[in-house]
Amino acid sequence: MNIAIDGPAGAGKSTVAQQVAKRLAYLYIDTGSMYRALAWAVLNNRVPIDDEAAVSGLLRESEIRLERERDSQRVFWNGQDITDQIRTPEVSQYASIVASYPSVREQMLVLQRHMAAGGNVVMDGRDIGTHVLPDADVKIFLTASTRERAERRLKELLAKGHQTDLATLEAEIAERDKRDMEREAAPLRQADDAVLVDTTGMTIDQVVERILKICERSG
Ligand code: C5P
Repeated sequence: MNIAIDGPAGAGKSTVAQQVAKRLAYLYIDTGSMYRALAWAVLNNRVPIDDEAAVSGLLRESEIRLERERDSQRVFWNGQDITDQIRTPEVSQYASIVASYPSVREQMLVLQRHMAAGGNVVMDGRDIGTHVLPDADVKIFLTASTRERAERRLKELLAKGHQTDLATLEAEIAERDKRDMEREAAPLRQADDAVLVDTTGMTIDQVVERILKICERSG
């Protein structure tokens, strides 16, 4: 069985997908981390962000590897562990820009389908149910109010020692969602056969239980 979890920034996809994967003993694949890895490399190599050919060329000649670490995942770019470097607000914004390029998405699609080929995966992202795994057995569209998503991100970033505030984060999340929803190539949208789960006011455990129930019904 394959499970696709899509939704906007900060809806809790990664945390929830990781826990669902753990409970089912499935492989967890965070596709956002792949766009983040490319964004990090663009910044690090000073590739002009508005040059689609250069950005997609950089991806073509590099290697992204996701490695399982207990219930979570580490991210490698050409063998370098960049797991902790890809979670900054700057990388988030750059990730949604590189993700708008069709020539980048085409390459990511091939990599992601290859990773899911063995089955029994929980994959999270923006276009998993609509493009990457259109035949997934369970499709979830996870969302929450913009305010709540910004509050969750704030807690996460403050805990990691980043300096930021709620208003800045809310604006950044809104900007990223707009770019993700309005792009031409595989925009963020709920698949017709996806189940909508609004997590506003729900705890992580409650969301996980809800998704496991949905999986049971489809299993
Ligand atoms: O999920 P996360 O916030 O880590 O994703 C970072 C960015 O990568 C998103 O804002 C989105 O632009 C892009 N993304 C995507 N398709 C996916 C996963 C992520 O376009 N399947």
